[in-house]
Amino acid sequence: MAIERTFSILKPDATKRNLTGAINALIEGAGLRIVAQKRIRMTREQAETFYAVHKERPFFGELVDFMISEPVVVQVLEGENAIARYREVMGATNPANAAPGTIRKEHALSVGENSVHGSDAPETAAIEIAQFFSGNEIVG
Ligand code: TYD
Repeated sequence: MAIERTFSILKPDATKRNLTGAINALIEGAGLRIVAQKRIRMTREQAETFYAVHKERPFFGELVDFMISEPVVVQVLEGENAIARYREVMGATNPANAAPGTIRKEHALSVGENSVHGSDAPETAAIEIAQFFSGNEIVG
């Protein structure tokens, strides 16, 4: 299996409830290494660009408002098969459907306030990492 990098966000519902450490423990416990991390307040423009694929969806406005409502923690995670592995650790988009032990089952509040983002493919991982990190901020 290849060593990959994926992009992660600890979303506003997580930072607001002081869950950065608890979620990072689940990430690290799953064998993923946090090779870059910073706490930022996303701008509206950054959030709209990040979720541009959803701009025609009815939840887009609410999603952008949510992502800028509190600070977020953006991360780069590294490990074997990191993209699929992190999606497993996150659990289903709707926490009601998420498996026990996943981040969303343990911590998410709803389909909108679902605590974490993780890239869904190598192409999107590369684009998302580049939106928030320069090369010298990632230390593997
Ligand atoms: P999506 O890419 O489908 O899920 P995931 O985060 O698991 O990759 O959706 C992106 C985000 O959009 C999702 O995390 C929360 C929000 N969202 C809603 O608020 N309502 C919805 O019905 C869906 C599908 C997503």
